[in-house]
Amino acid sequence: MKHFFFYYLCLAFLLQACGVRGGNHEPIRPGKLWLDDRGVHINAHGGGVLYHKGTYYWYGEYKSDSTSKALVGITCYSSSNLTDWKNEGIALSVADNDTTSDIAKGCIMERPKVIYNERTGKFVMWFHLELRGRGYAAARSAVAVSDSPTGPFRHLRSMRPDAGQLPFDMTAEERAVLDTLDAAKYARWWTPEWREAIRKGLFVKRDLEGGQMARDMQLFVDDDGKAYHIFSSEDNLTLHIAELSDDYLSHTGKYVRVAPGGHNEAPALFKKDGVYWMITSGCTGWDPNEARLFSAPSIWGPWTQLPNPCVGPKSEITFGGQSTFVLRLPGADDRFIFMADIWRPKHPSDARYIWLPVRFKEGVPYVEWMDQWDLGFFDRPIVEQE
Ligand code: GAL
Repeated sequence: MKHFFFYYLCLAFLLQACGVRGGNHEPIRPGKLWLDDRGVHINAHGGGVLYHKGTYYWYGEYKSDSTSKALVGITCYSSSNLTDWKNEGIALSVADNDTTSDIAKGCIMERPKVIYNERTGKFVMWFHLELRGRGYAAARSAVAVSDSPTGPFRHLRSMRPDAGQLPFDMTAEERAVLDTLDAAKYARWWTPEWREAIRKGLFVKRDLEGGQMARDMQLFVDDDGKAYHIFSSEDNLTLHIAELSDDYLSHTGKYVRVAPGGHNEAPALFKKDGVYWMITSGCTGWDPNEARLFSAPSIWGPWTQLPNPCVGPKSEITFGGQSTFVLRLPGADDRFIFMADIWRPKHPSDARYIWLPVRFKEGVPYVEWMDQWDLGFFDRPIVEQE
């Protein structure tokens, strides 16, 4: 028995030294290995968290050891405390034996998010889908549905959103300018003329018929139950915020463009005291870059850009990560967790997670690195950054 205790202590010390996290009431350690109930590093990348009836559900991309392509699907983990995670298995599987399926094994499934629809009692998942063998050309959104939060989710369809629709806030004058633009005339990208045309909606017009491109994405459910799909569109140059139907399974066709030509990816939205906030990244693939912050008085804007919300060492590269979600803690209007991924493209399954509390200075959110922290952080007196 004595020996057993000794070995237990040695093991605990070793795990601690390696930065392995697990067990009850353990702190959150951004960037370290995060073990599930089976002792395996959590595999739920580019993910998001849904709180439903006392349980947190974390959905994310299952990444393999050597490829970022979807060989398995979307995973789900559950927890009552945000630190002890039970592996609930695959919430949405790739189609294993059907190469004609939109979600055929080997496709790309990114940034899954799940929301609960109060009216229908269904769990609705949206994610960014790239068709197998076509790189990042398809730029589609896919939707899946389930009766249970842990799945199995049923893939419904994939599409480019808002086919045939122009942004609802585009004025008659702006539409008239759009009529004069022709994508075929701009053989060279990145010239000042091209940038100006992009700002005016060159690519919205180019993609009007087939639907707008949709890559990095987020879902946001507002206080009135209306849900929105936020995604990098127009070749990742411009964000679109699009309204979802009452059952959350399709787009209504009502949308706005945000920061045209601003090159924003990885949008993560939250709302505090009636103000909408959005953290995004720039566009540098798997390499980290400086986060951006936007705010708006309405989901439809106008969206104003503010300085980088990250502060302190490595804040110019989002601490090595890229935003994926902001979780509002249940029962609190002012407690939010910023979630990001530290990508490891050479060993995708070993990508790490950054979760940090969102703090506020004069009402403006900011995020500061901490090697470790726990949820008790929110109960301690607030010390604002100088
Ligand atoms: C990132 C994006 C990821 C993934 C990656 C591929 O910029 O946020 O979701 O698409 O590019 O290079």
